[in-house]
Amino acid sequence: MALVNTKKMFEMAYKNGYAVGAFNVNNMEITQGIIEAIAEEKAPLILQVSRGAREYAKNSYLKAIINVVVEENPDIPIAINLDHGDTFETCKQFVDDGFTSVMIDASNKPFEENIAITKKVVEYAHARDVVVEAELGQLGGIEEDVVGVSEDDISKHMADPNQVEEFVEKSGVDSLAVAIGTSHGAFKFKKEPKLAFDVIQEISEKLPGFPLVMHGSSSVLKEFKDLINKYGGDMPNAMGVPEEAVSKAAKMAICKVNIDTDLRMALTAKIRQVFAEKPGEFDPRKYLGPGRAAIKEMVKHKLHVLGCAGKAAECA
Ligand code: G3H
Ligand code: 13P
Ligand code: ZN
Repeated sequence: MALVNTKKMFEMAYKNGYAVGAFNVNNMEITQGIIEAIAEEKAPLILQVSRGAREYAKNSYLKAIINVVVEENPDIPIAINLDHGDTFETCKQFVDDGFTSVMIDASNKPFEENIAITKKVVEYAHARDVVVEAELGQLGGIEEDVVGVSEDDISKHMADPNQVEEFVEKSGVDSLAVAIGTSHGAFKFKKEPKLAFDVIQEISEKLPGFPLVMHGSSSVLKEFKDLINKYGGDMPNAMGVPEEAVSKAAKMAICKVNIDTDLRMALTAKIRQVFAEKPGEFDPRKYLGPGRAAIKEMVKHKLHVLGCAGKAAECA
C-alpha cells in the first residue's frame, strides 16, 4: 500500500472510539522501533517529521527510510505528516516532497490570520490529495523548533469552543489540534496533571464527527524517567499526561495523539544505562540497539492505550 492520507483513519477512529498514534521520527532507529511495534500490533500509523527533524536528518534520508517502511509493510496504512509547519511555504515544500498530511501551526497569530493562512494551505494541499491539520489555542512547552506558552499561561490559552465552527467552515481544514492543557516536552505539569475534557466535549458537540488532535500527549513513563535519573540524568520533576487520560481522550473526539517525548526518553534511558553499566562500550549498535528495542516495547504498549492495536485493516 502506498502512503495514505489520514481521512479513512480518522473516520474509523472517530466512529470506533480510538485514536491513531502520531510518532515523531528523527533517525532510523526511532523509525524502526515504531514500525516493528506497529507491524506486530497491526495498527494504522502516522509518522511525523518536524522542521527540526528535517534539518537534523535531511528530508532525503528521512523520506528514504519512510519509503522502506511503507514498502515492507504493505498491509499497514501509513500517513506521513509535517508536524508544526510554521508558514505556507514550509507546508508547500512538504506537500511537494510527497507528505500526505501537513500541519499549519498559525495558532500564535490572530484568529482571522490563522484562518487565512490555514485556508491557503488547505487550497494547495487539497488539490494534491493531502490533508491539513491546524491549531486553535496555544500549547505549552518550548521545543527546539516549536514555541509554546509557559505553563502558568496554559489555562489562558485553551482552544475556545466558540471559535471552532467558524474556523473549520472558513478554512476548510480536515482536523484540528486543540489546546486542552497539555504541553510539549517532559515537564508538562508542576503539580497535578489536568486536562480540559470539557473543552473536548464542547468542541465535539459543535462539530459532530470532526476529528480533533491532541499534542503534547507523552506520558513520561516512570520506567524511563527512573533509568535516566538513576544513570546520571537530571529530570526528577518530569511529568506527563497519565495514560488513563490519554485513553479517555482517545475514546472521545481525539483521533490523533502526538508522541515524541516518550520516544526520546526511551532511547536516552537505554543509552544511559548501557554507558553506565559498560563504560568501555563504544559500538553504537550496542547502545542504539537496546534503545530501539525499548521504543518498540513502549510503542506496542501505547497502541493499546490509544485503542488502535488491531485496527490497521479497517483503516486501509
Ligand atoms: O512538537 C514538537 C515535537 O516534539 C518536535 O520537536 O522541533 O524538537 O523536533 P522538535
Ligand atoms: P510530547 O512532547 O508530549 O511527546 O508531544 C509531541 C507533540 O505534540 C509533537 O507535535
Ligand atoms: Zn506538537
